[in-house]
Amino acid sequence: MIDIVNDLATLRDRVGNWKREGLRVGLVPTMGNLHAGHHSLVRLARAHADRVVASVFVNPTQFGPNEDFARYPRTPDADAEGLAAAGCDLMWAPSVDTMYPLGVDNAVRMSVPGVTEVLEGARRPGHFDGVATVVSRLFLQVQPDVAAFGLKDYQQLAVIRHLVRDLAFPVELLPGTIVRDADGLALSSRNQYLSPAQRGVAPLIHATLQRMRKRSLAGEPREAIEAAAHQALAAGGFEVDYVVIRTPALAVPTDGHGPRVALVAARLGTTRLIDNLEFGSGG
Ligand code: PAF
Repeated sequence: MIDIVNDLATLRDRVGNWKREGLRVGLVPTMGNLHAGHHSLVRLARAHADRVVASVFVNPTQFGPNEDFARYPRTPDADAEGLAAAGCDLMWAPSVDTMYPLGVDNAVRMSVPGVTEVLEGARRPGHFDGVATVVSRLFLQVQPDVAAFGLKDYQQLAVIRHLVRDLAFPVELLPGTIVRDADGLALSSRNQYLSPAQRGVAPLIHATLQRMRKRSLAGEPREAIEAAAHQALAAGGFEVDYVVIRTPALAVPTDGHGPRVALVAARLGTTRLIDNLEFGSGG
């Protein structure tokens, strides 16, 4: 049976008892509507900690005014069941008022420069500051020794690394590998918005990333690879936000060597999907 906690005093009591027993605490931050990708993060945290807390909180400060905050799927009962099966000890499910006691408009916010300004950050103004704001609060509330974040949100992990380094949060970050369906589509809570026809086309994202990796490792010029990938996705019916090859720090590569990541964000109808693939030395 998983312990479901909604108030900060109880959370502090539970975590305080574990810490007094000398137990290591792991955190898996989520927005709920959990799938096998989230469950694999719980197992990753479990491998590095004695107790695991998963937060389930749809964070209003990371959604833009025209984004899907109101319709974001909320499935707390199924989430609790899946978390328990994956080995999670406590589901931290605060209300918006508990997370932002002075109200969202009066909330103290984090602002992360640099890495937030490109790719997702350039297209979703304020999104990563909202993520940094809520993750900082979760770190202060749960005080984890380790925290697991999925690599599917590649840039989010870069933002959180920056946050942890700059504020010296005493937490070790655990990157979790991307979990995919058999046809290559990365698991995402937003996949359920896809119509059957769109779901049939969606694996083209991963296939395109794999082609980009192959061509890049064969020494083809980055610009040509990106243009061909854009064209392939557009021909498949995607509206492409970006499909690029970058360094792990998300900079434009200046030479042909070193670790790389191919990143894509593209829309099928109103559903926006993101994915990435690391390659090259270290990838
Ligand atoms: O990746 C997510 O689900 C969210 O951005 C996170 C890290 C839980 C913060 O709300």
